[in-house]
Order: sequence, then structure tokens, then C-alpha cells
Amino acid sequence: MCGIVGYYGNKEAYPIIIKGLKRLEYRGYDSAGIALMNHSVRVYKCKGKVSELEEITKDKDISGNIGLGHTRWATHGEPSNVNAHPHVSMNSLFVVIHNGIIENYNRLRTELEAEDYIFKSETDTEVLANLIEYVYIKLNISPDEAVRIALTKVIGAYGILVVCNEHPDTIIAARKGSPLVIGKGHGEYFFASDATPIIEYTNSVIYLNDNDIAIVNKKGLHIRDIRNIEQTVKVQKIDIEIDAIEKGGFDHYMLKEIFEQPKAITDTCRGRLNYYDKTLKLGGLHQVIDALTKTERIIIVACGTSWHAGLVGEFLFEEFARIPVEVEYASEFRYRNPIINPGDVVIAISQSGETADTLAAIQLAKEHRALVLGICNVVGSSIPRETDAGVYTHAGPEIGVASTKAFTAQVTVLTMMAMLTGAKNKALTDKEHNALIDELALIPEKINSILAKAEEIKKIAEIYKDATNALYLGRGYLYPVALEGALKLKEISYIHAEGYPAAEMKHGPIALIDEKMPVIVLATVDKSYEKVVNNIQEVKARKGIVIAIVTEGDTTIRTMADHVIEVPYSDFALAPLLTVIPLQLLSYYIAVMRGCNVDQPRNLAKSVTVE
Ligand code: F6R
Repeated sequence: MCGIVGYYGNKEAYPIIIKGLKRLEYRGYDSAGIALMNHSVRVYKCKGKVSELEEITKDKDISGNIGLGHTRWATHGEPSNVNAHPHVSMNSLFVVIHNGIIENYNRLRTELEAEDYIFKSETDTEVLANLIEYVYIKLNISPDEAVRIALTKVIGAYGILVVCNEHPDTIIAARKGSPLVIGKGHGEYFFASDATPIIEYTNSVIYLNDNDIAIVNKKGLHIRDIRNIEQTVKVQKIDIEIDAIEKGGFDHYMLKEIFEQPKAITDTCRGRLNYYDKTLKLGGLHQVIDALTKTERIIIVACGTSWHAGLVGEFLFEEFARIPVEVEYASEFRYRNPIINPGDVVIAISQSGETADTLAAIQLAKEHRALVLGICNVVGSSIPRETDAGVYTHAGPEIGVASTKAFTAQVTVLTMMAMLTGAKNKALTDKEHNALIDELALIPEKINSILAKAEEIKKIAEIYKDATNALYLGRGYLYPVALEGALKLKEISYIHAEGYPAAEMKHGPIALIDEKMPVIVLATVDKSYEKVVNNIQEVKARKGIVIAIVTEGDTTIRTMADHVIEVPYSDFALAPLLTVIPLQLLSYYIAVMRGCNVDQPRNLAKSVTVE
């Protein structure tokens, strides 16, 4: 939530920052702003997207080799010119951009008002700018020391960049709870909420830790922590290709990412699954596999789509490894005094690795001495650094706000983890294990064959693009897929949609069914197939419209449903990886036909770093 970008070097900062902000717009897009320094600071900001910022800066002085930029997802104060970042302190000494939430901003604001500070905006960030300035003037100290002391008074989460008008050759960066990466070039530094704005300039990065304060000036980069203790600067190499963050000829990132799923799954399995000798290795779990195998309980914590992947994980672990699993919304888990025992294994799933609720759930699990594992996509993000061990999904950068390839990569990792655990604790026989490896090997090709039906799915989307409600039904492994299909539709097309276990329909949702209501039924072949066929009959008996996702060659459902979309046969445990694909495409085409901005749906942001 909120994207921040900074530049310090010899080049013009403006084009670098604008380009970086566009790459980070998935984090928030309700207002944008930039501060540029040469001898003094100039600030331009407006409500709207980065393109609107470009518009208003067309005839302005945009020179400067140091600068900060921000794209906002509103928390405190509605999207407006005045609430947009950067925020300038009352006496114009400090300029601040911020991602996160200052929880005690109200109290700090009242204290500063008592010192005659006047505020222009409703934001918590302006409070921080004024607090830094107040400390700077009052204690007559350096700007970085003022930032450090001000931050000791702050409760909450922040990733900030700060410049001071009296020291125009310095950028100060600090983080706690919100991400911040620094790229190190030749005599230049790049700052950003994630590495995507940086990788076209350098692959040498420094991930700030919580409570770190970085100072970049003519002497280079120094890091201290909030207690004023010098920290070692650890430069790491990152490996992201620039093509991975461009649209590559697709109309939207979301469509590109849907089509990337065969590759994402192949990459996630690469070096882990050996199809020839039927072995499975997860290097990240090497030290903890015994504990995972012996645990009496697994708790999965996640949010949104990652939570849906967690629900699939529950079926996988229980079936393959016979270990009881609970799946929790991280936001609920963190506040309800859950029972966590020292031998429990908590698995946190997150694409971004920065979701605030998931991070808080991890902290809680650690306090109870559970073993905490992570399944994450963004390398070097906070969750992999906070967990005891884990497995990366190698889906590549996911930029469309609606998660697609991250979901299938997460389910792939959960499948491998459950297989590995089941093989070790003998809940899974060698024969079953080897058969699953063969099945998993075929998944990318099977997804390709579903993607080839995109035009067919588009035609169905055309018919239902004006629906106001939709119901998604699935059983067993396909119940989480029903939830995910409903989430995809509502978040990008703003059509109300609900996912339900198919058999629950008659306990309530059946009342909604009429001749206008599309009911999307996940009905591939498995042990509850006959029951799902009955559910389809029940919908048809009430004149509902059925769009069924069926196994190739199914002739029974074809005679009942209004539309069928066939997917290849697979082991039922792997069916989520196939059946979710037509649902993603259906939502995508419906949203495009309704004129929605699929990559940046209203009110949403990709990385939810506030609770
Ligand atoms: C939905 C979506 C969100 C995320 C959720 C968790 O398409 O993207 O529901 O899944 O915000 O995000 P991560 O996985 O980054 O923790």
C-alpha cells in the first residue's frame, strides 16, 4: 500500500522517479506526488494517477539530481491534492513521503498543536513531517538525528524517505513494518518499496531491516538503527529480468500473469521435483522437515487469495500426510488469543511477503514458540525474513492487483510440501507419491490446453457481463476454488459474487437463484461428482443458469448445463490448479467488457501493509 521511490545521484531524478512510480502504481493509485531537490525543494502533487502528476508538471521546473516520489493508497484522509504526498513540514524544512500508518498520530498532532503547529492535511504523514521538524529545531541537531529521535516517539508502521531543505545533499530513509529497498549503482542510489523500480539500473540491493535508518549523502550510504547503533550494510544481488515486469504484448498484467501460469508452475517445481527419479526436495525445509513430519497440528495463516490457497493446503496435508490442519485468516488469528503449542507448525502464505496481518500472525506464533514456515513469492520481503524456514514460489513478479499465478504457485508449493511430509511420515505410499509426481509434471501442459480455450470463455463472458450477482459452487478441493472464483469476479468487475460449498446451497443461497443468476459449478470427476450433478439439477429446477467446469469428455453435465468449459482430467487433489484457470479468464473478460481497470481495481492495492 502506497509506493515510494527515491533517487540520489548524478542523473535527472524526475524521469527515474516517474517511471518507478508507474511500476509501483499497483500499490496504490489515488494520488501521486514528487519532490525534487537542487538548491531547495520543489514539491508537486495531485489527486489521481501518476499520469496526472506528469500532466501538472509539464511546464514546471523538474530539474534536480535528488528526489522523492509517492503513489498513494489512502488511509488517513480522502484522496485529494492536499492529502497527497510528499508532505512538507510547517516551516518548510522537511519533506516526507510515507508508506504505513502512524497509529498514535492523533496524540502527536495534539502535542504539536500545543506547540503552535498548524496542519494543512488530515494525514498521519504530515504529523511525522512536523514532528521531525519540531525535534530538529528544538534540539538543534542534524536532520538524520532528528528523524531518529522523532521515530522513537512513533507507534505504527512506516517506510519513509525524508529530505531537509537546509541539507539538500542528503536523503534519509527509515523503515519499520513497511518495506523499503535501496539499490546501489555507481555513485547513485535508488530507493523503492520493492525492487521493481530499481532492477533496470542495478541488481545490487540492500533490504533495510525494521528500525533501520539509512543516510545517503556525499560520503555514501550509512545505516544506523533507532538506538543509534551503526549497522553493517549488506549488499545482495537480485535476479529479476526486466521483461518479467513489463506487459510483454498483453493488454493487461492480469492477462499476462494468467498466461504465465504454466511457466510459473514449472519454475516453482524446478530443481525440486525430479520427474525421472521421482524425488522431491525442498531445500528451504531441509532443517525443519523432521519437525514438520512429527507435528500434531499445522496452522495456516494468510489473507485473501493466499488464504484460499491455504484452504487447498488443508485438504492436501490432511490427505497426503494425515496431519490435522486449521486455516485461519491472519487478521482474525492475531487478535483472538489462539491456542498455539510449542510443537505446532504455523505456515504463513503470502505473495507479497509484506501483508501486515500475516506478519502480525507470524509474530504471535513465534511468541508461542511454534515453528513458523513461510510460502512467499517476493524474494527478500519481510515474511521470508521473519519466518524460521520456508519455500519460495517462483511465480515471478505479480503486478496485476488480482492475484492469479501466485495462487497456482502457492498451491503447487503446498502440494509439494504435503507430498514430502506424507512420504516421510509414510502416510503416502511410494506408489501414490510417484503417481502424484507424474501428475504434477503434466499440469503446465494441461493449463496450456485450458488457456487455448480463452476465446470460448470470452464468448461466455459476453453473455453474462451485465449480471449483478453470481454464485460459485464447489466441493472438497474445489470449494476453495469456488471462493477464489467469486473473489476474482467481485474484485475486478464489481459484480457481487459468493463462493459456497455446493451442498450448502440448499441451506440458504438457493433462495437467490432465478433466471438471471449465473451459477458457476466446479464439477470435475471425483468421488462427489454425482452429488454435484444433483446440485446442478437443483439449480436448473429453479431456472438458474449453469456454467459448469467439467472434465474433458463429460457428456452428462453437457445435457443439463447452459455452458460447459472442459478441463483435462487430473488427480482430484491437483484439480484446483486446473479449474481455477477458466474462472480467472471469465472474470478477466467480464471486467474488461464492463470497462473496469482490471490491473488497478478501485479501492484495492496489491500489497496490504496496513491492518
Ligand atoms: C486477491 C488478492 C488479495 C491478496 C491478499 C493477500 O486477488 O490479491 O486478496 O491475496 O491481499 O496478499 P499476500 O498474498 O501478498 O499476502
